[in-house]
This record gives sequence, C-alpha cells and structure tokens, in this order.
Amino acid sequence: MVVLITGASKGIGLALAKHFLAHKYQVFGTSRTGKISDIEHDQFTGFPLDLSTTESIHKAISYIKNKGISIDILINNAGIGPDLNAVEPEESTYRKTFEVNTTGTLFFTEMIIPFINKQGKIINISSKMGSIAMCTSSDSVAYRMSKAALNMYSKILANKLQGKPKVAIVHPGWVRTMISGDDTLGRLSTEESARGIFDFVTSNFENATFWNNENQSLIPW
Ligand SMILES: NC(=O)c1ccc[n+]([C@@H]2O[C@H](COP(=O)([O-])OP(=O)(O)OC[C@H]3O[C@@H](n4cnc5c(N)ncnc54)[C@H](OP(=O)(O)O)[C@@H]3O)[C@@H](O)[C@H]2O)c1
Repeated sequence: MVVLITGASKGIGLALAKHFLAHKYQVFGTSRTGKISDIEHDQFTGFPLDLSTTESIHKAISYIKNKGISIDILINNAGIGPDLNAVEPEESTYRKTFEVNTTGTLFFTEMIIPFINKQGKIINISSKMGSIAMCTSSDSVAYRMSKAALNMYSKILANKLQGKPKVAIVHPGWVRTMISGDDTLGRLSTEESARGIFDFVTSNFENATFWNNENQSLIPW
C-alpha cells in the first residue's frame, strides 16, 4: 500500500510518515526542499513540493507520473498558520496562508487525482478552527478562513468523486508542533495525533465527513 503525505518534514506529517512506515506502507513524503532528514528507511522517498508555487506543483506531479506511482492514500497535511492567534488580519500573511492551505492544496489535489486508485482515499488535514458552526472567536482570520475554504473544497470533491476515491477532512487535534511558534503548547504529541489519524484512515474512515481526531467524533461544518 502506498501513502503520499505532504509536509512530512516535521510535526504531524513527520509522525504520520513514521507511523505508516511502521505499519509496512510504502511512504512518499514532501517538503519544500525535498529533504526529510529525520527518516531513513528503504520504504520512504522524499521529494520537493512547495504548494505556494505553480511550478513546484507541476514538478511534483511530473515526478509522480514519471515514477509511475499509484497512490492508495493521499494525506494533504502541509499547511501554515502565520496569523494564528493574531487579532487583526494582515494582507501578506493572509495571501500566503491561502496560497498554501487552500489554493495550492486544491490544485495539487486536482492534478494528482489521476494517480490515486479509485478504491483509495484522500484525507485533507484541516482544523476545527475552520468550522463555521463552532466559531466563537475573532482571531486567526486567514487560518480559519483558509481551512473553512478547504473544508468546502473537500465536500465538493467528495460530491464529484462519489467515493472513487473517498474523501474526508480530519482535525488532527491540538498538537504540540511549531505551527503556532511554540511546540510546548497542545494537548497531543505528534505521535498520538498520527496514531489517531492512522486509525481513522485505516479503520473508521467515513466518506465526506469532517472528523475530530481528538475525541473521535464528527465536527459540524
Ligand atoms: N498543530 C496543531 O495543533 C494543528 C491543529 C489543527 C490543524 N493542524 C494542521 O495540521 C497540518 C500539519 O501542521 P503541523 O502542526 O504539523 O505544522 P508544522 O510542524 O509547521 O509542519 C508543517 C509542514 O508543512 C510543510 N510546509 C510548510 N510550508 C509549505 C509550503 N509552502 N508548501 C508545502 N509544504 C509546506 C512543512 O515543510 P517544510 O517547512 O520543510 O517545507 C512541514 O512539513 C497543517 O495543515 C495544520 O493546519 C495542526
């Protein structure tokens, strides 16, 4: 079984890559440089993908095509949060956040679909901060909006693909990574988050759902 994980150089993506490798999957992982120094494993291959540039997305798709990779599970994990906890929106971080979390993820996904098995799965790592129904805060405007837009794309994609492959959105939990600039904050370790996501993907997966990995329940859109 082949899994492709974007943003596998650190944080949740790195832990996911290690967890899938431990379960005998062949794992392809991306980072902007293509270097993923924390994994040395004969079933692992890293290659470059920068979701903020069209050229990099095209090169990554060419790489997959030229290698003849047939993907069983795509995990769109790469994401940024430069305005996390900021009260006021700021234009450059807003544009950057959308470029990576929404626009880049959307066009990368559209281009990679032909290389995903019809019985496969697409998992978009979003956030409960992108839930409109749950939003009671006024901070992190770009991050929340980018994930809400990713959620809508995921739903549209699930409607379009009709289960071939299946699509779901996962909130990984509040995880101790550097996305917020302080990896001491968070309820879950990256390993705990990865374990839960693996169980969802391999056992509890439901098409067209928004899944909370923190308490194994559905999140309102
Ligand atoms: N941590 C949390 O509590 C939490 C909560 C909810 C949702 N999430 C979501 O979980 C996902 C992973 O977050 P994380 O906390 O593990 O963050 P992280 O530790 O900062 O890792 C982010 C990953 O994305 C990659 N990346 C950054 N910019 C990129 C770009 N322009 N193009 C392609 N890849 C890029 C990074 O690789 P390089 O820098 O090496 O290129 C890195 O591998 C994100 O989608 C995030 O929104 C996290």
